[in-house]
Amino acid sequence: MSSRDDTLAASIRAIRDYPKPGIIFRDITTLLGDAKAFRQAVDDLVKPYADMSIAQVAGIEARGFILGGALAHQLSAGFVPIRKKGKLPHETVRVAYSLEYGVDEMEMHVDAVKPGEKVILTDDLIATGGTAEGAVKLLRQMGAEIVSACFVIDLPELGGRKKLEALGVEVRTLIEFEGH
Ligand code: PRP
Ligand code: MG
Repeated sequence: MSSRDDTLAASIRAIRDYPKPGIIFRDITTLLGDAKAFRQAVDDLVKPYADMSIAQVAGIEARGFILGGALAHQLSAGFVPIRKKGKLPHETVRVAYSLEYGVDEMEMHVDAVKPGEKVILTDDLIATGGTAEGAVKLLRQMGAEIVSACFVIDLPELGGRKKLEALGVEVRTLIEFEGH
């Protein structure tokens, strides 16, 4: 990591044994509350896509909404919310996705993306990749061209990046943390 990335990493709070013993929770609220760090994260995330005519940024509820809105603004793109089930008012497409224990479902409006539109997927963190994989399925079901998926944090030990790459999705992340 560059010193620039070290600064960003230092703005993320690590909380031990949350939500359960043995887990180190990577809390991005401290990054979001640090004006310089938040700007740096957004600037670094959008840089590779600046001249790519991205139509939509899809963000995953909840923390992916915060970054996704900022990215969409910077790229002059639209924003597509991918939400946990039951929250979107119009007709949706729905997919089951795996969590550490069991499964949940997420949804997207059927008309949120047009076939062939260039879309960036974003979230704060990729761990097992189950959440992002679900989002990829929804976007592809509606015919989106997923240009890339980007995250502030990668937990490489949990294999999420490889899972997305195996689906043919380019993955970009700013910081890697060992342990989880
Ligand atoms: C966290 C994180 C990612 C997801 C990553 O969200 O914000 O969305 O887990 O995990 P995965 O790669 O193993 O699927 P969480 O489900 O805790 O919800 P939140 O963003 O609504 O807080
Ligand atoms: Mg999340």
